[in-house]
Order: sequence, then C-alpha cells, then structure tokens
Amino acid sequence: MRFIFLGAPGVGKGTQVKRLSREYAIPSIATGDMFRGAIAKNTPIGLEVKSYLESGRLVPDEVTIRMVQERLCEEDAKGGYILDGFPRTIKQAKALSDIVKQSNNKIDRVFYFDLEKEEIKRRVLGRRNCPACQQVYHLTYDPPKKDGVCDCGATLVQRKDDQPETLDTRLSVYQKETTPLIDYYERQNLLTRIDASGTVDEVCEKVRCGGMQALSP
Ligand code: AP5
Repeated sequence: MRFIFLGAPGVGKGTQVKRLSREYAIPSIATGDMFRGAIAKNTPIGLEVKSYLESGRLVPDEVTIRMVQERLCEEDAKGGYILDGFPRTIKQAKALSDIVKQSNNKIDRVFYFDLEKEEIKRRVLGRRNCPACQQVYHLTYDPPKKDGVCDCGATLVQRKDDQPETLDTRLSVYQKETTPLIDYYERQNLLTRIDASGTVDEVCEKVRCGGMQALSP
C-alpha cells in the first residue's frame, strides 16, 4: 500500500504517520526528517539544504526528488510506504507518479489533513523535539513528564523553523506551492479529506475509517 499524507506544516501529519506506519507495518518516509538527519550528520546533501530548512523555503525539486527516488528503491519500501511531506509541488507529484509507474505500482490514497490556521500555529509553536530519541512533544497537548526534558533524559529543543517568523514563511510557501496538490489529487479521485481537529487518537481513527484500514491487507 502506498499512501501520501498531505497538509500544512504542523497539522499533525508526522504524529499520525509514526503511529499508522507502525500499525500497518509499512515504513514512513518523511522528507523533512531525512533532510534534518543529513544536516545533523553534515553530509553533502545536509550542507546543501541547511539554509532552505532554516528559512522555511522548499529545497529545490531536483534535490528532493533524487533523494526520494533513492529511498523508494530501498528494500523496506518495496511493499509500500507512507510519504510524509512529499510531494509538495506539482513537479514532485508528477515525478512521483513516474517513479511509481516504473515499478508497476500506484498511489492508493492521499490523505489531506485540514485544520484552521490558528490551531496550526498553536501546534507548531508549542512543539518541542528530542534530539536524542526524536520523540515529539507539545507543551500543552502532549507535555513531557518533566519540563524541558524528554522522558529519555535529553534536553528538548525547539526546531529553528518553528519560530513565528519562519512559520509565516512556511505557511505562505505551503499556500502557493503545495495547496494546488489538493485539486491535483482530487481530480484523480485519490483524495480523502481528514478533519485534523481533535485529539491524536480521534484523528487517527478518522484516517483508519477514511480508507486506510479498508485498503490495507
Ligand atoms: P517538514 O519536516 O516536512 O515540516 P512540515 O511539513 O512543515 O511539517 P511539520 O513537521 O512541521 O508538521 P507535522 O504536520 O508533521 O506535525 P507534527 O505531527 O509534528 O519539512 C521541514 C522543511 O524541510 C521544509 O520547510 C522544507 O524546507 C524541507 N522539505 C521537506 N520536505 C520537502 C519537500 N518535499 N520539498 C522541498 N522541501 C522540503 O505535529 C505538530 C505538533 O502538534 C506536535 O507538537 C504534536 O505533538 C502536536 N499534535 C499533533 N497532532 C495533534 C493533535 N491531534 N492534537 C493536538 N496536538 C497535536
């Protein structure tokens, strides 16, 4: 099964992908996590993309498509995956379609997470990340046991691009570059809209009932 989770920054895609990829035993492929991993390790791609992530702009399509294409060829992705944060432009969507066709597969469903802007901002600005175990918290909705400290013991950090000014850039880039994908996938009868308000459990159930359960073996 091949799924795309589409939606604005901070809408809760990553949280759902982590749960559902475990539940349905398919890998999650999150381009943002891949870029952040490359930056942390100072790889050539990390050095190339650092300024884009820090300023909230999209990494050029060529770089992103090449990285995803390589990832999709790995053994664990042969039986399916959930894409989180890719595609984000029409060019990426067309490239993905070609990649999937070349291996005689298809995208089974695109879940579009819809949420009002004020709640998106609350989710992003309250997010805290663990640099050691990668756990994601929220100051109000999902706080750690001890303030500022991950339950694994490491000090929590705020992503550089989760500052208010960078968030505004990310939201306008999303509006301009990524929202055309809603129509693009709707025209192909692949889109399921998910109301992303409510608790993590409630949203998860909406995705299961919105087709993920029915489509999974
Ligand atoms: P990326 O890492 O993909 O960021 P994003 O799409 O902006 O998404 P986020 O990670 O911010 O949010 P999310 O929807 O996963 O929310 P989460 O589940 O964490 O991309 C970062 C950058 O990389 C881009 O700006 C760009 O530079 C580059 N990049 C990545 N992909 C690219 C591509 N394809 N092309 C070009 N460039 C690319 O949740 C947010 C918070 O809310 C958390 O604190 C969580 O605990 C909380 N939360 C989640 N669900 C709920 C709920 N139901 N109720 C209450 N709180 C909730």
